[in-house]
Amino acid sequence: MFNSTALADRTILVTGASSGLGRATCVVLSQLGARVIAVGRDEGRLIETAEQLEGNGHLVRPFDLSNVNDIPPWMKSLATDHGPLLGVVHSAGQHLARPLQMLKPDAVQELMQVNVTAGMMLAKGLRQRGVHESPASIVFLSSVMGQVGQAGVSAYCASKGAVDAMTRSLALELAPQGIRVNAVAPGQVETEMLDQQKQTLTAEQFDRIKAMHPLGLGQPEDVAHAIAFLLADTSRWINGTTLTVDGGYTIH
Ligand SMILES: NC(=O)c1ccc[n+]([C@@H]2O[C@H](COP(=O)([O-])OP(=O)(O)OC[C@H]3O[C@@H](n4cnc5c(N)ncnc54)[C@H](OP(=O)(O)O)[C@@H]3O)[C@@H](O)[C@H]2O)c1
Repeated sequence: MFNSTALADRTILVTGASSGLGRATCVVLSQLGARVIAVGRDEGRLIETAEQLEGNGHLVRPFDLSNVNDIPPWMKSLATDHGPLLGVVHSAGQHLARPLQMLKPDAVQELMQVNVTAGMMLAKGLRQRGVHESPASIVFLSSVMGQVGQAGVSAYCASKGAVDAMTRSLALELAPQGIRVNAVAPGQVETEMLDQQKQTLTAEQFDRIKAMHPLGLGQPEDVAHAIAFLLADTSRWINGTTLTVDGGYTIH
């Protein structure tokens, strides 16, 4: 049974907390009694997230995750100041819809930096002595796009396939430290990222994607609850897996 007190008073760092799934995750975790460290670049929007949280002691920490070398020392200083973390949720991410003939290496690299390399450096940061509790848990945001293909989205799909592969290997590597590593793979959820994607699609293309979701498009809370489950000790024997949360998109 899901232990609703498992996250009470535990500290969890959530990236992408200024928007969409990251923001919803912060809200759900705060409702479960956790203390949230909300991370993103836009301080104003992080403060908006903090204003929606239940309980006290939440922190807003603006940080540009494309500065990947700085992530482990920054996490060390967070833990020194605020205590060890129960977990990390890496919900910061970028999307790129670009046909191959228009795809530039710099744009691919920027996307990979945030979606993949930053996730790896967050795991590296968490494994340091004094930074994590034991047991601890990492949840990466993958996507159904790591499992299926979509024309014009190859860089994004590649990044999410990499997240799934990284999840399996890090789960093996960090198990001796008591750190579990899992991912969630959402289908289309109604966030700003979806608004951004809509601009690159015709109404017919969007309706087709919508129709591929037997339970309709997701809401951010649908994904946030799955993330909370993977953080809590109710999922203590789940490791190295990608949990698909897509309203049935991938069962076609
Ligand atoms: N929405 C969906 O339908 C969907 C489906 C499958 C998977 N996902 C995945 O779920 C995750 C969250 O998606 P979302 O829909 O919540 O996206 P979103 O609303 O566009 O939010 C993206 C977040 O990433 C942060 N971010 C981007 N670049 C950053 C950087 N360099 N440093 C720090 N933070 C950065 C943004 O914060 P700032 O602007 O404040 O920096 C923002 O909080 C992503 O990994 C996405 O690929 C989403």
